Amino acid sequence: MPQKRILIVDSDVASRNFIAKKLYESNYDVSQAGSGKEGLIYSWRDRPDLIIADPALPDLTGEEFASKLRNDARTSHIPLVALSSDTTSSRRQTCLDAGFNEFIPKSGQAVPLLRDALVRLLGLTEEVMKQGGLSITFLGAKGGTGTSSMCANIAMNIAQFQPESRLAVLDLVLPIGSIAPIVGYTGEMNIVSVADMPADETTPEFFRRHLPAMNIWRFNLLAGSPDPERSNQLNVGRIWDIVTSLKTSYDYVLIDIGRSLSKITLPLLQHSDLIALLISTDISTVSLTKILLDYLKSKGVHLDSVYTILNRAVGLEGLSKVDAEKMLGITINAAMPYLGTNFAFANSHHQPFTLKFPNDTASIIFHDTAKEMAALARKLRGEQFAPA
Ligand SMILES: Nc1ncnc2c1ncn2[C@@H]1O[C@H](COP(=O)(O)OP(=O)(O)O)[C@@H](O)[C@H]1O
Ligand SMILES: [Mg+2]
Repeated sequence: MPQKRILIVDSDVASRNFIAKKLYESNYDVSQAGSGKEGLIYSWRDRPDLIIADPALPDLTGEEFASKLRNDARTSHIPLVALSSDTTSSRRQTCLDAGFNEFIPKSGQAVPLLRDALVRLLGLTEEVMKQGGLSITFLGAKGGTGTSSMCANIAMNIAQFQPESRLAVLDLVLPIGSIAPIVGYTGEMNIVSVADMPADETTPEFFRRHLPAMNIWRFNLLAGSPDPERSNQLNVGRIWDIVTSLKTSYDYVLIDIGRSLSKITLPLLQHSDLIALLISTDISTVSLTKILLDYLKSKGVHLDSVYTILNRAVGLEGLSKVDAEKMLGITINAAMPYLGTNFAFANSHHQPFTLKFPNDTASIIFHDTAKEMAALARKLRGEQFAPA
């Protein structure tokens, strides 16, 4: 693997040199900048794999530095670590709000904390995500738009027309996962328990052998957090290497993030082969979806990798497809009609919709949508998007 390039931005030469030396010893390729402006120029020009900055810069605040990087397509996705001697919780918060991924206090523990953060943040690199199984991440601007039922049913339909493929579904909806109740899984293994395991045990081999199979659903499930208390204990730093392990051992990894767009899930969206965006037909969801799309665009997500599904989850009323397209300024890829109580019925019997109601026209839509999504994900994997 090529050496990872890290830029350190700090006006304090001694501190900068000290960190540079430690990282150099850990086999990173390190460069340095002494001011915010210099840091920005180097970042945009060299696009390092990761940037460490002391937020107390002489010319800009660290917060300004972070938002300038975040708002530029060349650097919006680069992991950013604050290394700060101002360790107050308010400073920590403003840094995280401005776009730093992690905040590490300058203390005796700084170097080991930094090393951990680097492994974590560099684990999910573009190269790694471009290898292995195709990833499709399901997202909605609001709860109840159908991300979980779609994720499970699309996964099952992909598996049905590609019986030789192995599929994993990962439920990252916080604070409570919702795929398990849909497919009827009641076992002990879930994202929180797996993230608690030592990193050297959650190998691709582990997931290939031990991820529970959901029988008629034809996929293996890494269930979500069983309750909010457990979700607070989730070791989020482990998510990246869990996802890459899953991608190594499965042909498809479908991830439900529901509406939990956060700094944990944003990198997954930025590196998914395809994003399935669920939209319901009420005006408030459509306007929230517009905000979400603009945000994703500003974070370097290419709209060609967003597959939009208009899902009439609550009833027949609401905007037409054409109205929704006008409001959003995009073409909607698929539309799922209101399925009445049938959908809830299939869900509550833990059955895929297409098995319970094979003759319903919606079963054809599920099948066609799954086919189109799988084909699109594969096509996008083969293409490299030019930077915006
Ligand atoms: N097209 C649809 N027709 C009828 N009911 C639906 C439809 N899509 C979703 N539902 C129902 O809406 C509820 C919410 O769906 P769910 O998949 O849990 O949404 P989310 O995961 O986005 O919160 C479920 O009871 C589901 O059965
Ligand atoms: Mg859900």
